[in-house]
Amino acid sequence: MPEEKIISFEQPVLRGTLQVPGDKSISHRAVMLGSIAKGKTSITGFLDGEDCLSTISMFQQLGVSITREGTAVQVDSPGIAGWKTPAEKLDAGNSGTTARLMLGILAGSSVTSTMCGDQYLTKRPMKRVTAPLALMGAAITNEAQKDYLPLTVQGSKLQAIDYQMPVASAQVKSAVLLAGLQAEGETTVTETDVSRDHTERMLRQFGAKLSQDGKTIRIKGRQQLTGTDVVVPGDISSAAFFMVAAAMTADSDVSFEKVGLNPTRTGILDVLEAMGVQMELSDEQGFDGERYGTVRIRHSKLKATEIGGELIPRLIDELPVLALLATQAEGRTVIKDAQELRVKETDRIEAVAAELRKLGANIETTPDGMIISGPTQLHGATLASYGDHRLGMMAAVSGLITDGPVHIDDPSCIAISYPQFFEDLESLVNV
Ligand code: S3P
Repeated sequence: MPEEKIISFEQPVLRGTLQVPGDKSISHRAVMLGSIAKGKTSITGFLDGEDCLSTISMFQQLGVSITREGTAVQVDSPGIAGWKTPAEKLDAGNSGTTARLMLGILAGSSVTSTMCGDQYLTKRPMKRVTAPLALMGAAITNEAQKDYLPLTVQGSKLQAIDYQMPVASAQVKSAVLLAGLQAEGETTVTETDVSRDHTERMLRQFGAKLSQDGKTIRIKGRQQLTGTDVVVPGDISSAAFFMVAAAMTADSDVSFEKVGLNPTRTGILDVLEAMGVQMELSDEQGFDGERYGTVRIRHSKLKATEIGGELIPRLIDELPVLALLATQAEGRTVIKDAQELRVKETDRIEAVAAELRKLGANIETTPDGMIISGPTQLHGATLASYGDHRLGMMAAVSGLITDGPVHIDDPSCIAISYPQFFEDLESLVNV
């Protein structure tokens, strides 16, 4: 990708159908569980973005055979007990999901390894994972004794815990559940608000038994996983950029096929509906595992809304692009209870506000969110990506409604979750 990308369309209209790339969260988990399991796992619809490729290389270093042809991945594993100690550091790149889930998995394995990450990931908090893992008896250390990468994990025998989560985070929940899978006894995790449940669904798919009572999940340790076939639906968090683009760009009408509709991820659809977006759902399938279907979005007159509470974990990654949409809505949109945005790939509260202000948006930040008043005519500007894929895509989509070109500095990070983003954008505009 070039070092700068210019978005400049003459009265764009988005039309047509789109199948966005595979879900990032599900792609990571498919490789992880396929590698913990003994035997063969076949994955279709895998996301070939940089984050998921980091997960694949880690397991290859641990001695798991993984081959990939585009979006088809074959895993053949000796099982977690057969992993070998890697010769080099395990590099999670920019991927928080890789780092946090792997800490939980490696803690109960029989190998010793050191995990590192890029300049952004090494600044993201790992204590939220290392603290519960320490309670289970995990041996995780850092030369400087801090809770940031690089961290050395010495696989050890773990004990089950009952864990009350302090934050709504699927990464933390998953790390504890995956450590619990190797531990002695039954681990329970209780959430504050329900976060994405892909780990729980996929553990069942690989033959593990879990039980759930409200916001508490229980998993017995020492269960064996069996390799299986996984079909990854399209990532609703990637589709979100074009859903917002269609909703705010005059005359647009776009259908998203085979997009993931897991109810723990569809907060964006609830918000679009509340903002007055014309939407139709059809072809819903896959009710036992990961639900998916077609979502049609048409340009609509938008009204402001309030986004907070239990909705937040169901749309946490969509908040940057929803903030952009709110600049086009009549009234005051309030985003609250979203302090987690401050510890994402970048501080997404300050970064989103700074970039949208460059376009002329009326936006205030609060400790846990943003307040956006609209509608506002946005103007062209040069926007920074902060090395954050979702900031880069938000910037690109803003260029559809500005009265001048939008330049995006360092768009290459978009390949982290959506390598063909610009091709898909071109394919929808003015067909
Ligand atoms: C993810 C969980 C979320 C999300 C991230 C992916 C996952 O992070 O923001 O993009 O796959 O478990 P948190 O667990 O920090 O909320």
